[in-house]
Amino acid sequence: MTTPGKTRVAIVFGGRSPEHGISCVSAGSVLAALDPDEFEVVPVGITRQGQWVLASGDPAQLAITDRRLPEITAGSGAELVLRADPTAAGLLVLDPTQGPRALADVDVVFPVLHGAYGEDGTIQGMLEMADIPYVGANVFASAAAMDKEFTKKLCAAEGIPVGPYVVLRNGMTMTEADKERLGLPVFVKPSRAGSSFGITKVDDWAQLDAAVATAREIDTKVLVEGAIVGREIECGVLEGEAGGAPEASVLAEVRVVSGHDWYDFEAKYIDDACEYDIPAGLPDDVTRRVREYATRAFTALDCSGLARADFFVTPELEIYLNEINTMPGFTPTSMFPRMWAASGLEYPKLVNRLIRTALRRAGR
Ligand SMILES: Nc1ncnc2c1ncn2[C@@H]1O[C@H](COP(=O)(O)OP(=O)(O)O)[C@@H](O)[C@H]1O
Ligand SMILES: [Mg+2]
Repeated sequence: MTTPGKTRVAIVFGGRSPEHGISCVSAGSVLAALDPDEFEVVPVGITRQGQWVLASGDPAQLAITDRRLPEITAGSGAELVLRADPTAAGLLVLDPTQGPRALADVDVVFPVLHGAYGEDGTIQGMLEMADIPYVGANVFASAAAMDKEFTKKLCAAEGIPVGPYVVLRNGMTMTEADKERLGLPVFVKPSRAGSSFGITKVDDWAQLDAAVATAREIDTKVLVEGAIVGREIECGVLEGEAGGAPEASVLAEVRVVSGHDWYDFEAKYIDDACEYDIPAGLPDDVTRRVREYATRAFTALDCSGLARADFFVTPELEIYLNEINTMPGFTPTSMFPRMWAASGLEYPKLVNRLIRTALRRAGR
């Protein structure tokens, strides 16, 4: 039953991408931040195989314990289905003894999902079909930001600088002219992935084929990018309140400090190999330009809700956009919430704003 006056929000997490565990941790933090006087929460877990279950809403069960990430498993809760029919209640519980039972209508969904089947427009399309408002980017923006080729093309078309790259569609290899243009080293990456999965830094052309094969295990379309020597700078962007212009947070710098040459998976999640400066120590005019590029990139991709735009800043203070994440990591120690906290928007207020923005955008 829906409690009158409360907003019913379904938090969807886990999912089929390799970022399953990170998504669970992010969702646990979102759950803990929602004011129970204002929100009624439906925790929806998706297993690594893609089954939907009514999950535990206990944030403690979604925390990292003994350095192990949480996981949603089949059978850990009643099976759920989301109906695409907008005239029917969205979420059904499939009870093996009593048959399907409608959960009361959900007012808004917060898909706290990263990567494929979460951040790429697929679940967004499903929610559009069901006519349920949701936090974050729409189908197009999600798909465009997930694909590094189209992120670069759309941003470059708006005058945002991106580094040199070539796109290798299935079966294609680099030409000698391409190699000369990019120079070594290069970064070889799947066009649609995240968390540094499938990425190799190549210092010798003899390693190229193996690197392309590794990236193709994740996506048949591969990008080869000229390496940019520079600092890694991130910027949080939020949709403007009441439909205003998008707003940029203070900037953060990620510094890989020990044992890692670049911001690979272990550096991101396992090794405590990074230090973060928030705000980043950059000259004022560079800060201003990065923030401007971040909001322009948000608009160039037609984003809504939230996004994190990632840049390189070279020693000559040239700025290059690297990528845009439409559902960035969302634990209290993740960059996006920390950049907003440093900008004066604490975690619970940030979550509240995202849900309110989604409802307003849907005219609810
Ligand atoms: N063109 C590049 N030049 C220098 N470093 C790069 C380049 N591309 C990627 N990297 C390094 O690899 C990391 C991951 O690449 P990124 O494109 O952000 O993929 P993901 O979506 O997996 O985060 C970056 O944070 C950076 O450390
Ligand atoms: Mg990245």
